[in-house]
Amino acid sequence: MGIRHFIDFNDISREQWTALSKLTGEIITSPGDFADCCRGKTLATLFYEPSTRTMLSFQTAMLKMGGNYIGFDNPGNSSVAKGESLRDTVRIVGCYADIIAMRHPREGAAYAASLFSTVPVINAGDGGHLHPTQTLADLTTMMKEKGRLDGLKIGVCGDLKYGRTVHSLLKALSLFKNNTFYLISTFGLAAPRYILEEIENSGNKYVECDSLEKYLGEFDCLYMTRIQKERFASEEEYERQKGVFVLDAAKMKKARKDLIVLHPLPKVDEISEEVDLDPRAFYFTQAKYGMYARMALIKTMLETPFDPPAPVYPSDSGIRCPNPRCITNSEKKLPPLFTESQDGVKICRYCDFRAKW
Ligand code: NCD
Repeated sequence: MGIRHFIDFNDISREQWTALSKLTGEIITSPGDFADCCRGKTLATLFYEPSTRTMLSFQTAMLKMGGNYIGFDNPGNSSVAKGESLRDTVRIVGCYADIIAMRHPREGAAYAASLFSTVPVINAGDGGHLHPTQTLADLTTMMKEKGRLDGLKIGVCGDLKYGRTVHSLLKALSLFKNNTFYLISTFGLAAPRYILEEIENSGNKYVECDSLEKYLGEFDCLYMTRIQKERFASEEEYERQKGVFVLDAAKMKKARKDLIVLHPLPKVDEISEEVDLDPRAFYFTQAKYGMYARMALIKTMLETPFDPPAPVYPSDSGIRCPNPRCITNSEKKLPPLFTESQDGVKICRYCDFRAKW
């Protein structure tokens, strides 16, 4: 029942989520009871990309449980700058730390790290792919404030193409029943096809639209996101996409009294400041719940028996995923892991990219 690695929320079972959610609730109620449960343990935070909340909340989570942390927040100051492979970095960090939380600009990087790591790995964001611990924060907030994860009408607005928090959230909520997702974006930033298929296959529903106001009055929850500037090929392309959807006080008047507004943060210009004062704005509370959820995750993973993996040998097959942002295109000699569907579509195990090639 334990959790070995945490790369994708959908890797854990419904029972594991229930146990994690229950533990998170206990920690929120009595954090002092957990003040010593990670004494003598060390978390490594390997952040190859900028972060405020995720990294600090991981570190605080560990400190609040009596543990320690090590790590870097700028790979330029580590041996990565000298050309060290991800494979070697995680093998080395596993000699010092008991658990790794890793953020990387490449999609599939955390999964790749988990193949070599001698300690458990947590995906703290892999490029525009997934961000499962943000999903823990999101689901904890929904459970606390709405009391359920089924039968919800959820607006998800902004950058649905590159927003990894969106991908993780939609996949996770598809494990529950009778949810309707209103996917609000420009045509250019629509959710990837594989995420839509995941919703379709789960029996939940989605509506794609390009208006924030159209269904606003129906939502139980509105999940706003930032346009992911750093993932665009050019500044001009970003300029065309930014500022299209802005939640302001006038729009909030059209929303339900029991709406909750969530945002993984940082917010840039998609929520105007006056909304911060609206009691329906839950994004700061959400960030706090995220820390408690990370405490529950770390504690659970450290209690899970972990046999180091059988060594994965470097592969010389030379196969690369066609997704240029996939880790297989920067980390040399990763084992080629693809599944092939009946119609000849290959799915990359690292980044979920799917195409015929
Ligand atoms: C998000 C991320 O890094 O994907 N931030 C976070 O972890 N809370 C969202 C974002 O950067 O827009």
